[in-house]
Amino acid sequence: MQWVSSTTSRRGGGISAVRGDSGLPGGRERARMVREMFDRISGRYELLNAVMTAGLYRLWNRRAVDLTWLGPGGRVIDLACGTGSLTRELARRVGPGGYVLGVDFSENMLAAARERPVGQIEYRLGDATRLEGVPSGGFDAATIAYGARNIPDLEALFAEMARVVRNGGRVVCLEIAEPEDPLFARFYGIWFDKIVPRLGAVISGDARAYSYLPESVKEFVSPEGLAAIMRRNGLQSVRWERLAGGIITLHHATKRA
Ligand SMILES: C[S@@+](CC[C@H](N)C(=O)[O-])C[C@H]1O[C@@H](n2cnc3c(N)ncnc32)[C@H](O)[C@@H]1O
Repeated sequence: MQWVSSTTSRRGGGISAVRGDSGLPGGRERARMVREMFDRISGRYELLNAVMTAGLYRLWNRRAVDLTWLGPGGRVIDLACGTGSLTRELARRVGPGGYVLGVDFSENMLAAARERPVGQIEYRLGDATRLEGVPSGGFDAATIAYGARNIPDLEALFAEMARVVRNGGRVVCLEIAEPEDPLFARFYGIWFDKIVPRLGAVISGDARAYSYLPESVKEFVSPEGLAAIMRRNGLQSVRWERLAGGIITLHHATKRA
């Protein structure tokens, strides 16, 4: 695997250096911005998740784990694993006979993850769009939670996820979305666009990270668009469900034989 070195690598992985519709940078500039941002907020990241979702992120993680179809002894790779919230849930599912590889390009997020060891988890520094040392077909499932929104080159991301799982293996993507119902969207918008950035700024001390959060959700591809990307990259039976009134989407698919 082309693991990212702690200070040097700014891998684009074929990412074009374009700006998104929202004005967020694309390509390497986005990757650098995202990595530095998560390095800064790693200490408060899980606390903020718990506060902002009223603890519901745990339920969503469990649903994502269910959709991996993993059981005891399974092997799974969790991309953009951050502080390991989903990774730990996966480790509990596969048990002591299983193996979980968590990959993230933020050293500080990984350091926070390593402080909470559970089961057979290995954490490695790396870029989710270039898993060069990870053998093809070596995992029963690949997951990503709240990472895809931060990765401009979604084709490369899902091509890698499909590559590293075995035929018939599962790919699961959990992400934040905009609710469909206009009335709910209006009320939720007050919370997510106005209150969350302020709350995030106060608790994490990093205003930019939590203004980026709603911006990145608005810029992200539609659920249909994400499903199309997954299909184009070797995945079949692509489905998605909306959770919590549509503020979360959960895509899942099977690798084509
Ligand atoms: C919102 S956090 C999600 C963390 C974790 N998956 C969770 O459920 O809490 C997004 C993570 O994606 C990581 N990330 C973003 N782009 C990445 C990339 N290209 N390769 C590896 N990690 C990446 C960031 O460093 C950050 O830790």
